Amino acid sequence: MPRIKINGKKTLSGEISVEGAKNSAVALIPASILCDEEVKINNLPNISDIDSLEEILEHLNVKVSSGNHSITIDAKNMKNEEISCILSNKLRASYYFMGALLGKYKFVKMCFPGGCSIGERPINLHLKGFEKLGAVIEENDGEFVIHADELIGDEIFLDIPSVGATINIILASVKAKGETIIENAAMEPEIVDVCNCLNSMGAKIKGVGTGRLEITGVSYLHSCEHSVVPDRIEAGTYVIMASLLGKNLKITNLNPLHIESLTSKLEEAGVKLEIGEDYVLCKKVREYNAIDITTMVYPGFPTDLQQPMVPFLVSCNGTSHIEETIWENRFMNIPDTVKMGASIEINDDNTIATIYGKRNLIGKEVVSTDLRGGASMVICGLIADGTTIVDNIEHILRGYEDIVGKLKNVGADIEIID
Ligand code: EPU
Repeated sequence: MPRIKINGKKTLSGEISVEGAKNSAVALIPASILCDEEVKINNLPNISDIDSLEEILEHLNVKVSSGNHSITIDAKNMKNEEISCILSNKLRASYYFMGALLGKYKFVKMCFPGGCSIGERPINLHLKGFEKLGAVIEENDGEFVIHADELIGDEIFLDIPSVGATINIILASVKAKGETIIENAAMEPEIVDVCNCLNSMGAKIKGVGTGRLEITGVSYLHSCEHSVVPDRIEAGTYVIMASLLGKNLKITNLNPLHIESLTSKLEEAGVKLEIGEDYVLCKKVREYNAIDITTMVYPGFPTDLQQPMVPFLVSCNGTSHIEETIWENRFMNIPDTVKMGASIEINDDNTIATIYGKRNLIGKEVVSTDLRGGASMVICGLIADGTTIVDNIEHILRGYEDIVGKLKNVGADIEIID
């Protein structure tokens, strides 16, 4: 199995360009099957999650041509086949085919989706939304059959502003009869991106970017070309690296407004950043002070950047805290960070990590337990003395395009080994 080998403590200089957002792209691809004509999506990240979605499209007899960070999707001759566990378990976002196929055919048969085991990850709110639109749900041992005679718009209140539920209900309702209202909708930039793409096909979604979405069903969606919004989590991961090791390291092709919750926290710790229209530059590394972080839905501090922040907090003077409020199991990277020399305690509820700085890390063989935990271990390796080997890197490659090549390019001593 491939692993990442890092010889740490190298200064990083130059430019790293951010790709299109994984969590937007993985929704835009299933959304495209709702279109009655051809859809072209540009600025698509080259990551394994996208390959897994392409496999599902091909299984559904959708005409796909991809390459050079673009995909063209033509669903005119598609067949509404059952999506097996083997196909759906490769990634969490396969669940967007539930909303999209239900919206298109009023029938979907598929297995419960996979993804990182960062928590229980129920889909009750997605299903509640489908039911409100008139769907009937049958579940048998992880196999879902969801069908409706007709989908009719209704008012849906989400108990939690769930990213997945918001997008899935949008997908099921853009072609439903009448008006659907989603209250307490999630407001992440990826949701805005999906709504913008659907609206450019002729969907009628109002309130985009707010907690109240009003969707008036349409019967036909026409061709469109859409560019995926920059990946704020990939951007944030590299900005954290720049804060720790950057000497004129510029992270480009990002939207600074989307990572304000991160940059404001880094600045609170003492990081000096030059923030431009589409870049963040760190000229030099300084001494940093401990800070506290609480993960929240957008525009709060994203849970997906909590793990990459751990090595930063390990390097700060004083004691920092991370409170994780979204996922129950998102400190899986901590044991290996401790193995490398960090001093971190987790409370009994597994909700708060107390990080005692400032500790020097030493290279070890560690595991990538999940996507962002893996990115966190890479950062640990970059700042550690000696050699770090990161195992199970398939998690990392699901979400970070060419992370090794990008880091090598700016001076890291990093390679993939067998
Ligand atoms: N929740 C429910 N019921 C539901 C849906 C969600 O109780 O039906 C709960 C979850 O258990 C969780 C909270 O609501 O406690 C938020 O979950 P959400 O539905 O917002 O998460 P998601 O859609 O499954 C997406 C991203 C995650 C990211 C979260 C939160 C994708 C494919 N995944 O997941 O990204 O952590 O939103 O921002 O968009 C990652 O990229 O590493 C990643 C895990």
